Amino acid sequence: MFDYKQFYVRLIYIIIFLFLTAKSNDAAENLSPGNCVQTYDSGTDYFPSKVTVTTASLFTIKYNNNYKLVMNTATKDTFALVQCGTPVPTGLPAGTKVFNISLNNVAVMDTSVVPYLEALGLRSHITALGSPFVTSPCLQALNSNLTIISTDNMTLEIQQLSKVDASFDSMSNLSDPKSISISAASDPGPLNRAEWIKFFSVFFNLEDSANTFYNQISDNYNCLKKLPSSNSHPLVAWVAYNEPSSFNNNTASWTINDAPYKKIFTEDAGGTYFNSTTLSYSTSSSFLSAISNVDILIDETFVAPNISAFYTNFNLNSNDNQYKFIKNNAIYREDGLSNPSDGRDWFENAILLADDVLEDMMNVINPNLPTKDYKRLL
Ligand SMILES: *[C@@H]1O[C@H](CO)[C@@H](O)[C@H](O)[C@H]1NC(C)=O
Ligand SMILES: *[C@@H]1O[C@H](CO)[C@@H](O)[C@H](O)[C@H]1NC(C)=O
Ligand SMILES: *[C@@H]1O[C@H](CO)[C@@H](O)[C@H](O)[C@H]1NC(C)=O
Ligand SMILES: *[C@@H]1O[C@H](CO)[C@@H](O)[C@H](O)[C@H]1NC(C)=O
Ligand SMILES: *[C@@H]1O[C@H](CO)[C@@H](O)[C@H](O)[C@H]1NC(C)=O
Ligand SMILES: *[C@@H]1O[C@H](CO)[C@@H](O)[C@H](O)[C@H]1NC(C)=O
Ligand SMILES: *[C@@H]1O[C@H](CO)[C@@H](O)[C@H](O)[C@H]1NC(C)=O
Repeated sequence: MFDYKQFYVRLIYIIIFLFLTAKSNDAAENLSPGNCVQTYDSGTDYFPSKVTVTTASLFTIKYNNNYKLVMNTATKDTFALVQCGTPVPTGLPAGTKVFNISLNNVAVMDTSVVPYLEALGLRSHITALGSPFVTSPCLQALNSNLTIISTDNMTLEIQQLSKVDASFDSMSNLSDPKSISISAASDPGPLNRAEWIKFFSVFFNLEDSANTFYNQISDNYNCLKKLPSSNSHPLVAWVAYNEPSSFNNNTASWTINDAPYKKIFTEDAGGTYFNSTTLSYSTSSSFLSAISNVDILIDETFVAPNISAFYTNFNLNSNDNQYKFIKNNAIYREDGLSNPSDGRDWFENAILLADDVLEDMMNVINPNLPTKDYKRLL
């Protein structure tokens, strides 16, 4: 005999199951950029896709049902990002800047912002650039909406910035309601810097893309750093010559450029990081004596277009073979990819693409890594 009871019980289970899966499919993604909520319901979580900050130390993100509270902890710049079509929350911390999700047109005041927005597919949302030093060819050549912001005409600059929803800047202006300060380049560690893609993503509901992108970089990075052998760890110094100028009281100096991310890149690439208690020297001879045992030099002097300029800056010449970095031709610069105005990808893609930088560093330390025919990018 047909068991009606069991049939109905199963039917009810199936209906409940279908209902639940339909409901969770509905809620599986954040609204895509440009879309607003039509009928607001205070009980709905409008951000089922979230990011969690795992490595970076200079920003925080807290999710609420219809808004996200985001903070750059280095500058204390705080943002409430409200899903458009839903109410702006009350009782926000003083000074909180309110933005709609998602931002439409943005200004980019610092080149380091470009790769993050490009990686999230947001190039067409960049409508104003604060710097002509961008290396991204697609941004320069293909974005016909692009305005270069005037730096010498304040009236014009204000007019230009009035057309954007927000401007991403490495400088912080807590009293400018449209300025979003970013500290990606100073977050201490290669993967910290890369994880800032999550910071940018939350303004556009692009959490899923940010998670995918960051996980790829971090998996790749963590895999690559297993390649160097443990036998030899050449000593690597990151240095610069600072010519006399109005910025330094017309006094030249030679510096060891210490930063945590430089130490991590050096060590993960198989080198030994050179550091010193004295970071700045007023004579080239005291500087050279400090770095006399260094195997590999990374010259970060801003202007040094060729090796003769390098020798002149450091009072060296090509016969000074007592220095291993000269004898072994182991002097490197960060200008492998630049634009005609000498804007460098080192200040652009290298901030996000930690895995690419690690491959380059590895190749500097051991020319057979990551592969024998590897061509450095940066
Ligand atoms: C945000 O979007 C709402 C529509 O949801 C609009 O009324 C409001 O002016 C927008 N606010 C800002 C700061 O752009
Ligand atoms: C320029 O802006 C318009 C309107 O926002 C957009 O539809 C278009 O794709 C943009 N063009 C480019 C080349 O990014
Ligand atoms: C500055 O820009 C404004 C607005 O475009 C323009 O009217 C003014 O002539 C400019 N000033 C100078 C000195 O170029
Ligand atoms: C900061 O923003 C305010 C408001 O837009 C503006 O008046 C001020 O000139 C800005 N300060 C700097 C240093 O740019
Ligand atoms: C610049 O040099 C002058 C003369 O030696 C000195 O008095 C002054 O304090 C210096 N300024 C700075 C900013 O170092
Ligand atoms: C390098 O040395 C300086 C001075 O001793 C120290 O303050 C700094 O933390 C060191 N850098 C790293 C990355 O360990
Ligand atoms: C090297 O660069 C300097 C500028 O710093 C320039 O004066 C010089 O002509 C260049 N030398 C060569 C060989 O290109």
